[in-house]
Amino acid sequence: MSHMSNFDFATSFNNTSFPNPIFTASGCAGSGKELSQFFPLNEIGAIVTKSIMVKARSGRPTPRMAETPSGMLNSIGLQGPGIDQFLAEDIPFLIKAGSRIIVSIAGESVDDYGSLARRLRGVPGLSAVEVNISCPNVESRGQVFACDPIASRAVVEVVRRTLGGELPIIVKLSPDVTDIVAIAGEVISAGADGLALINTLLGMVIDIDLMRPKLGGKTGGLSGPAIRPIAVRAIYQVHQAFPKVPILGMGGVTNGRDALELVLAGASGVSIGTATFGNPSALMSVKEELKSLLIARGFSSFKDAVGHAHRSENE
Ligand SMILES: Cc1cc2nc3c(=O)[nH]c(=O)nc-3n(C[C@H](O)[C@H](O)[C@H](O)COP(=O)(O)O)c2cc1C
Repeated sequence: MSHMSNFDFATSFNNTSFPNPIFTASGCAGSGKELSQFFPLNEIGAIVTKSIMVKARSGRPTPRMAETPSGMLNSIGLQGPGIDQFLAEDIPFLIKAGSRIIVSIAGESVDDYGSLARRLRGVPGLSAVEVNISCPNVESRGQVFACDPIASRAVVEVVRRTLGGELPIIVKLSPDVTDIVAIAGEVISAGADGLALINTLLGMVIDIDLMRPKLGGKTGGLSGPAIRPIAVRAIYQVHQAFPKVPILGMGGVTNGRDALELVLAGASGVSIGTATFGNPSALMSVKEELKSLLIARGFSSFKDAVGHAHRSENE
């Protein structure tokens, strides 16, 4: 037991530290209210909130979910209350719960991101901002920001300029690109402190009885175990190119072994999304399993394991 309690599970993103590396994934736990019925929110590294937009939105047409082998497809769209209600209600709830908070923001234009960053300035109790750039840019024929290096750079620059050095900026990238390392390089040079990898992949399911796309929005984001090897590959490639930039990894993590894979590839933190829908306590079990697996492999601190798959390759 004393061996267990000596283990240092803390992680950090730049100067912000977290007691352990297990986080929610944006959009999969709202603002934490439902999860708080299953465990105290301060038990996890941080809550990453659903991506918040400038105005309230109702999301995309139904149906919005389809099951796929080892995963799911969703086309929720960025449904939510808008930044004003979020700041008035969700942030005070999370502060009261003792939770560390990472606010995810999303926009349809570079200006939207600037407005959101302005509203976050001086808000007490925030640990970091996650910038979700996997959204259609209405000023560029709906092309997703994260697939366009110039638009990605513009978003990160406006958030950086607006927030100054107030909060770490973690930029969430899409795996739906030819070269994720190139996009990572753009956003890092534009001022990102860290990266979140990966968002969902664009997919489609066709109902063969109705003989048309199953989702009301036709396409949707693929998540769950089916995408884990892509997450591991993206994290590995980006960590190899930018070893000093912290990565929040996510994609199909359901147990401690999955989380360990992302950590060894280079993730300084692990977010859990789809797994919480089937098992609201998944965050707690992944946390305990990851700790045991690290101790069993002789690590005395979590940070020593980050990116270890790269080191053993060279030795
Ligand atoms: C229903 C649903 C809603 C999501 N909403 C968001 C969101 O608002 N912002 C965001 O950055 N990612 C969103 N994501 C993506 C997740 O945060 C995560 O990157 C992805 O699902 C991979 O992790 P997982 O396999 O553990 O779910 C959403 C995913 C799902 C399944």
